[in-house]
Amino acid sequence: MGLRRAIVLFALMEVTWSLSVTTIGPKTVSTDASAHPEPAEENTEQKEAAEEDVMATGELNPNHYPAQRAAKVVQHYLNLRHGSPYKLFGLKEVHSGNAEEVADSGRKYQLEISVHEIISNTKEKCSAEVFFPSGAKQLSPQVQVSSCEEILKLDAKSEEEALYQQYKTNKTVRTEKRLPDSYGHIDPEMTPFWHLSIVASSFIMLKESTENTLYNMAQVANITQLATENDQLKFDCHVLLHDMVSQEIPQWKLLFTWSPAEGVKVLHTEQLPHVHESEKQAKPN
Ligand SMILES: *[C@@H]1O[C@H](CO)[C@@H](O)[C@H](O)[C@H]1NC(C)=O
Ligand SMILES: *[C@@H]1O[C@H](CO)[C@@H](O)[C@H](O)[C@H]1NC(C)=O
Repeated sequence: MGLRRAIVLFALMEVTWSLSVTTIGPKTVSTDASAHPEPAEENTEQKEAAEEDVMATGELNPNHYPAQRAAKVVQHYLNLRHGSPYKLFGLKEVHSGNAEEVADSGRKYQLEISVHEIISNTKEKCSAEVFFPSGAKQLSPQVQVSSCEEILKLDAKSEEEALYQQYKTNKTVRTEKRLPDSYGHIDPEMTPFWHLSIVASSFIMLKESTENTLYNMAQVANITQLATENDQLKFDCHVLLHDMVSQEIPQWKLLFTWSPAEGVKVLHTEQLPHVHESEKQAKPN
């Protein structure tokens, strides 16, 4: 329960989807992490998977899952492209959404959303287009964002540079404690690395997203700083993601570098066996 508790706490604490999730339509109410006794998971997944077979097209209810899921992909994209230890984007609100089939190649969402920069508490309306390619091989959604200039221009260079200098010369990150811990707490010194881990994990969350997922960062299991290479700080970390739709908590290993000049570069990702091993082993696959 510790992890689930942390997820719920984190949702209340920092990520802005907690509000939108509680207002999502009847079909999705049961996906709140706190509402799930764990043994019910498998049935709910199957039921929802069946319900989701028919994709909404045309104008979407901005509070319902199809628009929210596509909008979440924009958040991952913005974090991956523009996030840093001191710049972290969240999805504040979906104002409108439209989905259409694109002849045999996939489905395209046009969205008007409010994006939130969590650290400076700044908000801006942005337009975005998210294209989910169809086909046997799952490809990353493609994202285009426009009219989002102000929030992307937010300047955190001096904080980034100070952190970089400290950890390049004088300090090393190494923690086997989960971020946040089961009480939702993060040591202030580790907060920039929590943010950085979210930014790096956005690479996975973007790549793995489909019209049937809604990924959030759940926890960092551990993070270890490796030797700096080519002026890039290098990190090895294990993260737990949370898909709100399936209630899965996939676990990934992630190797990445960061510097203020180059931003985040993901070098290697690897999905690890499921967190709830004990539950899964009890069931035939
Ligand atoms: C490194 O740390 C020591 C003590 O912790 C401090 O006195 C020194 O100024 C630091 N150097 C840099 C470059 O931050
Ligand atoms: C980090 O966590 C993962 C999974 O929880 C574990 O397999 C790995 O050994 C841990 N690494 C360190 C350095 O603690």
